[in-house]
Amino acid sequence: MTFPHHIKIVEVSPRDGLQNEAQTLPTQVKIDFINLLSDTGLPVIETTSFVSPKWIPQLADGGEVYQSIQKKPNVNYPVLVPNLKGLEAAIAVGVKEIAVFTTPSEQFSQKNANCSVTESLHRIAEVVDRAKKQRIRIRAYLSCVLGCPYEGKVMPEKVGELGEILLRMGCYEIVLGDTIGVGTPPKIKRLLEIVCRHVPLKYLAVHFHDTYGLALVNIYSALEFGIGIIDSSVAGLGGCPYAKGASGNIATEDVVHLLNGMGIDTGVDLKKLIAAGRFISKHLGRTPQSKVNLALGEAIS
Ligand code: HMG
Ligand code: MG
Repeated sequence: MTFPHHIKIVEVSPRDGLQNEAQTLPTQVKIDFINLLSDTGLPVIETTSFVSPKWIPQLADGGEVYQSIQKKPNVNYPVLVPNLKGLEAAIAVGVKEIAVFTTPSEQFSQKNANCSVTESLHRIAEVVDRAKKQRIRIRAYLSCVLGCPYEGKVMPEKVGELGEILLRMGCYEIVLGDTIGVGTPPKIKRLLEIVCRHVPLKYLAVHFHDTYGLALVNIYSALEFGIGIIDSSVAGLGGCPYAKGASGNIATEDVVHLLNGMGIDTGVDLKKLIAAGRFISKHLGRTPQSKVNLALGEAIS
């Protein structure tokens, strides 16, 4: 088994994490948090979303956050966009990269975006068209790829077909979201085998929520399969308010610790990452959901 020398980590806490908090943090705290993350060596930080504030009020200040953070030239700052209205708002503040989202599950699509899967693809096509004209790069999420809280089983073939459609549209990366954390290593392997018939492995990323504590094991399985891009969230923040059972993402601290231990480079400074996790956890009034943060936090503070 040979693992890659380098893995790209995509930090999603400012978006996936803060969208799921009952409280809305002050804008300045979000800005300070993202600035801390920018200083850790993370190559990609999903900064916020431009969705309806009626649906996600916690991120209604996305424009101000995006404009106010100190952007490093070697870091990408994508934002999540559900439709043309969101894209126009993102363009207005100079966003260079977006993330779009759909799912193989009809019911989850209705709950999360108030539209069918087919309709969501039409929306994405419009967004991609407009984004390309602005030279904006597009990442694409597929949610509930290993199970849906409303429909149960999800067919891997459908995930592969959707991934292929999104890649053909011009999305540069297809993110496989285990939104409710129901994956297990054999399921991950089967999913990747089937999806890879449609989307070359180099375009795939994994985005695992840690509902049942298996996200890190599942990441290891994905690494064995050859995945080179991992989404994660500092302090284990995360979840989708429209997916029952979606708890935090795998903690970035724990992913970096695993990869460090395997001799795989991420370019991320674990101490700085732990500090960022502690900063946001303090503002949220909770303990970081990261074994590594808890074990090493005191030692390095
Ligand atoms: P809708 O209610 O059907 O849309 O929502 P609408 O077109 O009827 O608009 C309703 C109101 O929202 C209108 O305002 C629009 O102008 C406004 P009003 O006229 O009533 O005052 N609106 C907007 N405002 C700002 N920005 C926009 C926007 N769009 C409409 N972009 C919609 C449809 C898609 C907008 C809604 O369902 C939505 O925003 N959904 C997003 C929900 C969300 O953010 N979920 C979490 C992210 S996905 C996730 O977490 C999974 C992921 O992490 C991967 C994984 O874990 O698997 C990515
Ligand atoms: Mg997510």
